[in-house]
Amino acid sequence: MPSTAKLHAYIHGQIQPLESAFLHVSDLSIQRGYGIFDYFKVQQGRPVFLADYLSRFYKSAQLMELRVPLSINELEDVLQELIVVNNLPLSGVKMILTGGYSANGYDPGEPNLIILQQPLTLPTQEMINQGIKIITHEFVREIPRAKTINYSTGIRLIKQIQAAGAADVLYHQNGVVTEFPRCNFFIVTMDDVVVTPAEDVLLGVTRKNVLEIARHKYKTEERAVTLEDIAQAKEAFLTSTTKRILPIVQVDDQAVSDGKPGTVTRELLQELIALENKLALQV
Ligand SMILES: Cc1ncc(COP(=O)(O)O)c(C=O)c1O
Repeated sequence: MPSTAKLHAYIHGQIQPLESAFLHVSDLSIQRGYGIFDYFKVQQGRPVFLADYLSRFYKSAQLMELRVPLSINELEDVLQELIVVNNLPLSGVKMILTGGYSANGYDPGEPNLIILQQPLTLPTQEMINQGIKIITHEFVREIPRAKTINYSTGIRLIKQIQAAGAADVLYHQNGVVTEFPRCNFFIVTMDDVVVTPAEDVLLGVTRKNVLEIARHKYKTEERAVTLEDIAQAKEAFLTSTTKRILPIVQVDDQAVSDGKPGTVTRELLQELIALENKLALQV
């Protein structure tokens, strides 16, 4: 079993031991919190849905006026090399692109590309069986289609989430819900329509896959979802790369439907796991 101390990272154009991976303090990520990133899963040494994550990474870079120093093919080669070197059975790979070293602490420099890989733990069966409670908070991310490194609001709310005995916080604006700091949101209506917010959200890769899976059996909709819609919903769940699908059984003080994880939610999770396993095993 590889130990964390032996992990390698890509930084300054080469793969090096993680313990010697440093950025200078003039980097715009430190000075102004300016940068983007993306994050994908690696199962049995194989990236899952890599093309989607790469395309979102380049899109985020473009939205934030940052140039990725490698072409997609070059980046894929580096990722492959790093995955082989680290040799982790189940992991997450984070590609970070910063504003670069800034002469005056404001004007961008040449972006720094950093790639990290860490072991990953998925939600326990107990969490899936119980479902989670969430709270709500009025907020919209600044450039929702970009996966920026700015998680200030989510991180600032950690204590509030814990004090409420909740697992996460759902953002909304005037009662129209959008997303969580790190996940997308879905409801299943009483007539089995699988619905997810369309505007002011990051286009999650898991969101996309879940919509595709759901479409085989259910009607799906990408549209505005309100807190009132949640109160009327049969099921609710969140999606993300690390959480896959987690049932939501309570929003603030209100139970979702009967307060138990729903059958559509559980069925979609089983199908998502099957799809990921199939892709990870494909030669
Ligand atoms: C703001 C935001 N929304 C949604 C997601 C979920 O996206 P994905 O399914 O691609 O992990 C993330 C992932 O970190 C995120 O940062």
